[in-house]
Amino acid sequence: MTSYAGRFAGRTAIVTGGASGLGCAVAKRIVEEGGSVALWDVDADRLAETQAAIGATHIEAFDVSDAAAVARATDATVAALGKVDILVCSAGITGATASVDQYPIDSWLRVVDINLNGLFYCCRAVVPHLVANGYGRIVNVASVAGKEGNPNASAYSATKAGVIGLTKSLGKELAGKGVIANALTPATFESPILAQLPQSQVDYMRGKIPMGRLGEVAESAAMVCFMASEECSFTTASTFDTSGGRTTY
Ligand SMILES: NC(=O)c1ccc[n+]([C@@H]2O[C@H](COP(=O)([O-])OP(=O)(O)OC[C@H]3O[C@@H](n4cnc5c(N)ncnc54)[C@H](O)[C@@H]3O)[C@@H](O)[C@H]2O)c1
Repeated sequence: MTSYAGRFAGRTAIVTGGASGLGCAVAKRIVEEGGSVALWDVDADRLAETQAAIGATHIEAFDVSDAAAVARATDATVAALGKVDILVCSAGITGATASVDQYPIDSWLRVVDINLNGLFYCCRAVVPHLVANGYGRIVNVASVAGKEGNPNASAYSATKAGVIGLTKSLGKELAGKGVIANALTPATFESPILAQLPQSQVDYMRGKIPMGRLGEVAESAAMVCFMASEECSFTTASTFDTSGGRTTY
């Protein structure tokens, strides 16, 4: 991976889901390229390990589906970092693998609560700080599932389509205020989240990728870091693919 020394010098970032996978990889690059990072995640043990491993400035262990906890974490994080320039929303779960008629209602509600409602709470709480800065970058992690739908993953697909829609709306609201908001739509990449799925589902998703392989977490992290940087300056309310050719729109 190419390193862009100093790309995030003086910048401060919140990364949700920052203890693992894509969030962790993004946070690590931001620190390596000069930025300060706060990690938000529900997994307190892994959060502490990741903070030590990558040199994050601040951590908050809580559930993003709790709107009051998101508000508290925002206040504490702004106090710790001094300001916020970047919000990366990567926290997410897959939910059950089942057809719509068999889909467990509790799993549906949990996926919506974390993947869509939680992301909304984070954007809602942090946006005023970005607007006050007159500068901001928001990267919301969606999925190709939100563009195409994956069978037996209706809750996940619906929430990721919701993230794309929310981000398009938000980007237009913030255009002209110095704050840019875009969504990432990856195809399946190697990360701990795949342990939540049956192998047959992973095999199905790999089979849909023209490059014939799963992505690597570093490939999506590289795209997120571009989207989170000053160089991403004339694209907002849009989506960026890392999908090995699966989605091209
Ligand atoms: N891995 C893939 O194939 C893939 C493909 C497309 C999109 N995505 C999306 O990328 C994002 C990151 O996924 P990943 O692959 O890095 O998975 P991951 O499981 O490695 O990381 C997700 C992190 O989110 C945290 N999290 C889960 N629920 C939370 C909650 N309620 N509150 C706070 N934190 C919570 C987890 O503890 C974990 O650290 C997710 O939004 C996922 O849907 C992943």
